[in-house]
Amino acid sequence: MVLNIAMDGPVGAGKSSIAHAVANRLGILHLDTGAMYRAVGLSALRAGVDLADEAAVTAHTQSIDVSVAQGENGQRTIVNGEDVTDFIRTPEVSMAASTVARYAGVRREMVAIQQKLASSTPMLVDGRDICVRVLPHATVKLFLTASAEERARRRYLEMQQKGDPTPYEDVLRDLRARDAQDMNREVDPLRPTEDAVIVDSTDMTFEQVVDHILAIVEEKNHA
Ligand code: DC
Repeated sequence: MVLNIAMDGPVGAGKSSIAHAVANRLGILHLDTGAMYRAVGLSALRAGVDLADEAAVTAHTQSIDVSVAQGENGQRTIVNGEDVTDFIRTPEVSMAASTVARYAGVRREMVAIQQKLASSTPMLVDGRDICVRVLPHATVKLFLTASAEERARRRYLEMQQKGDPTPYEDVLRDLRARDAQDMNREVDPLRPTEDAVIVDSTDMTFEQVVDHILAIVEEKNHA
């Protein structure tokens, strides 16, 4: 069987960077599914699609081609042949991604692409619905989380380093808004599955989290 590791968790839990490091250590690919919803959000915004219009967003998603490629520093996300990786991390696109990710038709399109990729290649896939929907038979299922305050603090420090002056309170408020939207949507809301190992990184360093996950993978893979 192909080694598939499913990793879900809320915004700012460090999933992407942790997933990247763990995948590197294991010598497997990392698929960042959030980037795919971000790419759909960006594309819909650029096309002037009304994000509140589910039918229009779904039709737009069906009309575009979203794919991923392996770059030197990790995943590149591509829409209709254009590498959009550098345009999908703005607050506007983050919120748009969370909105378009509510729609069943959008999710169906993305899940199909993700399942196809993971079926033939050993991968660590991170997102929100990976354990329950994308890879229900994954070798290892993880739910990576941390307190909202700690997640906001990490995001705030990251933004400050980039020269973004957004105050901590605003970062925490946006994070809570996205948590609420991701956890309360009708289709595959974010939640840990019963068979997932919960990793709470609130009081752990980056390296501790990576080592802890590698130990879990080792144990499950040889069980
Ligand atoms: O992980 P991220 O912040 O890049 O994800 C962007 C948005 O996409 C986030 O609001 C939740 C959504 N998402 C999802 O619904 N399902 C996934 N598998 C991945 C992300």
